[in-house]
Amino acid sequence: MSSSQRKYASMRSIGAYVPPRILSNADLEKMVDTSDEWILKRTGISERHIADDDVATSDLAVEAARDAIARAELETGDIDLVLCATVTPDYFNMPATACIISDKLGIRNVQAFDISAACSGFVYGLSIAKAFIESGMKRNVLLIGAEKFSSIVDYTDRSTCILFGDGAGAAVIAATEDSGERIIDIHASADGSYADFLMTPAPGSVNPCSQKVLEEGLQYVKMKGNETFKLAVKTLTKDVREILEHNGIQAEEIDHFIPHQANYRIIKAVGDALKMREDQIVLTVQKYGNTSAASIPMAINDIYEEGRLRYGDLMLLDTFGGGLTWASALLPFAGK
Ligand code: COA
Repeated sequence: MSSSQRKYASMRSIGAYVPPRILSNADLEKMVDTSDEWILKRTGISERHIADDDVATSDLAVEAARDAIARAELETGDIDLVLCATVTPDYFNMPATACIISDKLGIRNVQAFDISAACSGFVYGLSIAKAFIESGMKRNVLLIGAEKFSSIVDYTDRSTCILFGDGAGAAVIAATEDSGERIIDIHASADGSYADFLMTPAPGSVNPCSQKVLEEGLQYVKMKGNETFKLAVKTLTKDVREILEHNGIQAEEIDHFIPHQANYRIIKAVGDALKMREDQIVLTVQKYGNTSAASIPMAINDIYEEGRLRYGDLMLLDTFGGGLTWASALLPFAGK
């Protein structure tokens, strides 16, 4: 393959959707023994959006995907791979939510599958999209991170119910011959020995759906919050240092540092360790809470819609989540 024919993967567009209903800290004060002051101080979160009972993860995803496809100036027929990163799929076993999204969008006869990497799912998906495009197998990948996280939250457990929200983000990852537009690098990793730090014990082959599962509330997310917090700060900082060093890029050259939005204190600690300026760090956790796989594309969309994200801006993505999984990516925005 000559260099003039070489195909790179680029982020051509971004879109996002949040359901309209807001669950504020004041609302949570009426549900569990907590306070607006505690939540703000420990997490930085003021409110999160929650989808109605009759809205599925795929419904959130479709709204985000429509924007991403239109902004890439493509038709649904141009999409040749649909990837959905989620841990709150429409159905836990089958079919994949990506298949349902494809159907709702009218995308027929293309490969579609889900990615299960919790909060790291979107960046994991980016690495899959990049590999498919650079191998020449696909040209226009619709990559979605979508969660109806409220469907696995126990709203009587104050240690988790204050943290999470619902939403979706989507991007078109497209082939380009312009090396200046290319996704520069992605590092993705996992360590299953920390599986019990963040998990939903059921349903699954270990705990199939049963009366016992419901009685013990095993279908809800469980988290070792404090241990996860410490590991998140350490891992995210190390991960960012490595990807910057590996590519000879200084922290001050980054236009937008877009970390996973789980907790303001984690973001602040990582930003401080890397000596990031405040204007480099993208923050949305205060209004959306932790939306897991949707958090990073929703944050990218926020700066896009505010007019702060321009063609060529250098983004650094950094994420951490259940698995445990973590990932970082360096890429310019290649959309208009
Ligand atoms: N309101 C009031 N008090 C609360 C509370 C709430 N919503 N949740 C917990 N507490 C209490 C605890 O019961 C504990 O009380 P005790 O000291 O009497 O036992 C105290 O606050 C401290 O709890 P702790 O869990 O140590 O707090 P923390 O400072 O670690 O904050 C989290 C809790 C969940 C906000 C924080 O650990 C966190 O954000 N963890 C990581 C989240 C994350 O990144 N997830 C993975 C990536 S997706």
